Amino acid sequence: MKEPLKLGFPGNERVEEVDVPAGAPRPWGADAELRVVGRDHPRVDAVAKVTGAAKYSYDVRRPRMAYAKLLRSPHARAKVVSVDLSKAQAMPGVLAVESYEGSEVLFAGQHVAGVVAETEEILDDALAAIRVEYEVLHHVVDVETALGPNAPKAARDGNLVEEVRAAGAKDDVAKAHAEADVVLERIYRTQVQTHSALETHGCVCEWNGDRLTAWASTQATFGVRRDLSQALRVPVENVTVITEHMGGGFGAKFGADFWDVFCARMARKLDRPVRCMLDRSEEHRVAGNRPSSMQLCRFSVKRDGTLMGAEVRNWGTAGIGSGAGVANPIVYRFRAKRQESTDVKTNAGWGRAFRAPGHPQGVFAMESMLDELADAIGMDPLELRRRNDPNPVRLAQYEVGAKAIGWERRRKEPGSDAGPRKRGLGMASARWGHTGRPGATVRCRIARDGSVLVVNGAQDIGTGTRTVLAVLAAEELGLPPDRVAVRLGHTTDPEGPASGGSVTASSLGPCARDAAREAKRRLLDAVASRLGGDATAMDLRDGRVVGAPRPLAFEDACALLPTETIETTGEWSRGNARYPSFTSEVAGVQFAEVEVDVETGKVTVVKVVAVQDCGRVVDPLLARSQINGGVIQGIGYALFEDRVLDPRTGDMLNANFLDYRIPGAFEVPEIVAIPFTVANGVNHVGMSSLGEPPTIPTAGAIANAVANAIGARVRSLPITPDRVLAALDGEAS
Ligand code: MOS
Repeated sequence: MKEPLKLGFPGNERVEEVDVPAGAPRPWGADAELRVVGRDHPRVDAVAKVTGAAKYSYDVRRPRMAYAKLLRSPHARAKVVSVDLSKAQAMPGVLAVESYEGSEVLFAGQHVAGVVAETEEILDDALAAIRVEYEVLHHVVDVETALGPNAPKAARDGNLVEEVRAAGAKDDVAKAHAEADVVLERIYRTQVQTHSALETHGCVCEWNGDRLTAWASTQATFGVRRDLSQALRVPVENVTVITEHMGGGFGAKFGADFWDVFCARMARKLDRPVRCMLDRSEEHRVAGNRPSSMQLCRFSVKRDGTLMGAEVRNWGTAGIGSGAGVANPIVYRFRAKRQESTDVKTNAGWGRAFRAPGHPQGVFAMESMLDELADAIGMDPLELRRRNDPNPVRLAQYEVGAKAIGWERRRKEPGSDAGPRKRGLGMASARWGHTGRPGATVRCRIARDGSVLVVNGAQDIGTGTRTVLAVLAAEELGLPPDRVAVRLGHTTDPEGPASGGSVTASSLGPCARDAAREAKRRLLDAVASRLGGDATAMDLRDGRVVGAPRPLAFEDACALLPTETIETTGEWSRGNARYPSFTSEVAGVQFAEVEVDVETGKVTVVKVVAVQDCGRVVDPLLARSQINGGVIQGIGYALFEDRVLDPRTGDMLNANFLDYRIPGAFEVPEIVAIPFTVANGVNHVGMSSLGEPPTIPTAGAIANAVANAIGARVRSLPITPDRVLAALDGEAS
């Protein structure tokens, strides 16, 4: 059936004729009349979370539960010659020991032995009683050393440089530079950032015969089920993974890690529940990080503000892992672009996907370069972006953001404030893909007593997926969202996506709407068959049935059900058609105001305005919360967080939350989070991605604000006081 679908946002709308498959929900366009969706709703699990009733995997305690932990190498590169477990094994309360004698250590923190004990105290004593003989080898933990001549080999396979990726033709960029008026070459550097999820990695495992239950802190309930089933050699249906609540993951928790498998093996061996959760030090050292980057940028521009060439040569380290590429250049229209990226192996914990992998680092360099180019041609940096940004959504967002921050207050003469405390304004942009995808099934159950349950086996990483599904079902059922119970995070329930890539809400949301819509249809059929009337002319609204032969509350309608419960499913394949989308990406812009004390070098973020598109905003309160979180994590990346490895030992010097600083209450500025609704056709609900995008531009915006405040540029993250002072002294930073 052909239907008109209104796409876009106020001031920029268009109508497309779209094919709606038979039986499929009508897609919600810009003119959809919605009663529950689009209003602020607190999280459905807010009270459980703030009262502590919500149990995270970290909180799970099972009867007769034992504790497991791995002994970790203090050396960055070594051979494990021998492991003497005898003392540990003889200690009362030690239940199992395991040695990885003969293994090769590639980074400080790699496991060399494992212990299971009755209590955590005995566990620590037992680990301390293990004697390990190492043959210590040369290591390298720093990229520039690793690239140098005669550098130690980080891994046995030798080459420090693991891979080179290239895109774009060299000649085209050279030609663009040649035709430009200004060509700038600069080096930008970003540090290694650890994910620092408040809940560390790990799980609790319990066997019942040949069936395993694992309470895991994971983004991928079904991924962990698959991994454990393979590692333990039991069928997938014998493994149940449960993640009720999640203390963050940010990309580092996509499958079963060595310690999870160890935990499951030990639980089977001892035939009792075993808990293996990492401590904070292990979390920093072994559980993943955002790789570093060293980006040699050559960008060029014409005097009239036409962006010409963008060339980025990047070296970065993901430790013994891979994936140090940066997403750069992106967003703007350049005549020609080219990027080469090299992974440099070092003896350090591996990089992992981290909230918009490659993007914050790439955008920091690109947005800094944009400001440098604008300065060079004497153009306002916002104007330079306006002239070169092809995305109509961001063009509108620039106006919203500039107004909210008061862009006209930006110092034309950087560093011109009188006195030691100088203010500055800066901005940066970002993009992300529309990521919702098929493959999930959501179940909706309505019972005779009027209760409603929505179910999927994926988890809520903390973004509010549970609430989003409640709001969407509530819209169809004409109920307030807190009348809809949502069960997530049990792999015994229908399959859902791994919670990553900003896909979860946009994959499950359409299914939830579809399931609830189907349940409504069956409920109204029951009403019609008991009371008469035309079910297709009835609807559910404000807790009542509209169009029934007599006034009927939702509960009264449920009491007419022919069976105790009705259960429906919503699937992507039934009607979550991908209609034409308004733009091919989600867009965001951020503006930052900072104050820099030029006597101490301290940077204070005063205010951040974040304007973020995520398609349809299902719950603006949740969306603002997600934007706030992205900005706060971006502030940590811009100013504080830095994994420091001791070049001598190769071990991390700040593997705790005192010395590895994430923002606290005093570092969080006023954040003006502005969800920017764009009607698009990516699915029939119109939801798109929000998890990752709002952390992408923050560091770039802050860096530009700092440069505007002090009239000197810090080209390395984090922007610490020493770097600010060095930049003021004219030293390269
Ligand atoms: Mo993400 S970095 O896909 O959790």
